[in-house]
Amino acid sequence: MRLRDCHNFHDFRRLARRRLPGPIFDYIDGAADDEVTHRRNTASFERCDLVPNVLRGVENIDMSVTVLGQKLAMPIYCSPTALQRLFHHAGERAVAAAAAKYGTMFGVSSLGTVSLEELRKAHDTPQVYQFYYHRDRGLNRAMMQRAKEAGVQVMMLTVDSITGGNRERDKRTGFSIPFRLTLAGMYQFGIKPAWGINYLTHERFKLPQLDQHVDMGSGALSISKYFTEMLDPSMNWDDVGEMVRLWNGQFCLKGVMSVADARRAVEIGCTGIVLSNHGGRQLDGSRAPFDQLAEIVDAVGDRIDVIMDGGIQRGTHVLKALSLGAKAVGVGRYYLYPLAAAGQAGVERALDLMRSELERGMKLMGCTAINQLSRENLRFR
Ligand code: LAC
Repeated sequence: MRLRDCHNFHDFRRLARRRLPGPIFDYIDGAADDEVTHRRNTASFERCDLVPNVLRGVENIDMSVTVLGQKLAMPIYCSPTALQRLFHHAGERAVAAAAAKYGTMFGVSSLGTVSLEELRKAHDTPQVYQFYYHRDRGLNRAMMQRAKEAGVQVMMLTVDSITGGNRERDKRTGFSIPFRLTLAGMYQFGIKPAWGINYLTHERFKLPQLDQHVDMGSGALSISKYFTEMLDPSMNWDDVGEMVRLWNGQFCLKGVMSVADARRAVEIGCTGIVLSNHGGRQLDGSRAPFDQLAEIVDAVGDRIDVIMDGGIQRGTHVLKALSLGAKAVGVGRYYLYPLAAAGQAGVERALDLMRSELERGMKLMGCTAINQLSRENLRFR
């Protein structure tokens, strides 16, 4: 199977599974507990049908949107995700370059493997900085200052990861940074030597957003330990209100799921919220963002940009979210499998397929611009 044989999410996932050592594939692919929420994220789109209009003259389609003050050529963006250079040696460089080529926004994680400054200099497409709130307040202020100086457009604070999710696949493999593998995990790396050679012959793995603060030498820093030991579980609305004031720009909370919290986000001056359950990787059993979208749009959609992520595999999923009132939609695994499968060419192919699906979908729906999509186009079963 090669890149040109990949026509959808599932094909990229299969190719990524072939290329990646098991523990790394499982880190991307896995979710919390029984992975119920992870499955539901995609399934939720199937409870709802599109109702198209016809004969509307659809030769020219404009799928651009403005969200969080940024003009995007299409209504999906690459959500920030951690550790991308483990998946492919080009990591964030590949994702940012592909996003720039398709005129959309990309995210850089606090746990990113390329520095936000380097990425900001390389492309002029909008950049989101995904922020975790650390116990060390000085570190938080320094990280924000650094992002401001680099010219990052959007601050995106993750609020659903106050403690690590129970990722049982990672427990089984011993997935951690640097690797502290179980025997079974080691075997999995052994049978994918191409990945190992590639990893070892490229620039050393680092976490440039954090490397002055995280001691990579003193043992394994697992994702779960990072969440549990470095992040601040006392974080509250007042702390975030202070961050919003300090940032003084586009500020978005990622992981809001209730109407009450969405209202609070407006009150403290946020300019956007992302409905998200972290790809099902945190609280299993929590509701799918798509199922929660309508009531949150109704409550705050006229005062704040409502965005969602989770489970997006198809252009029609995006069209459903936009019809309900989302301003844009984020994708994670949708570009991570292609990244793992084929680097920048993979991410470009995935974005290209998404763009064609969106364009085709809009034509078939009888819409020439995103703002023509409305709830008239949807029926729930
Ligand atoms: C994860 C964090 C790092 O889901 O975002 O693994």
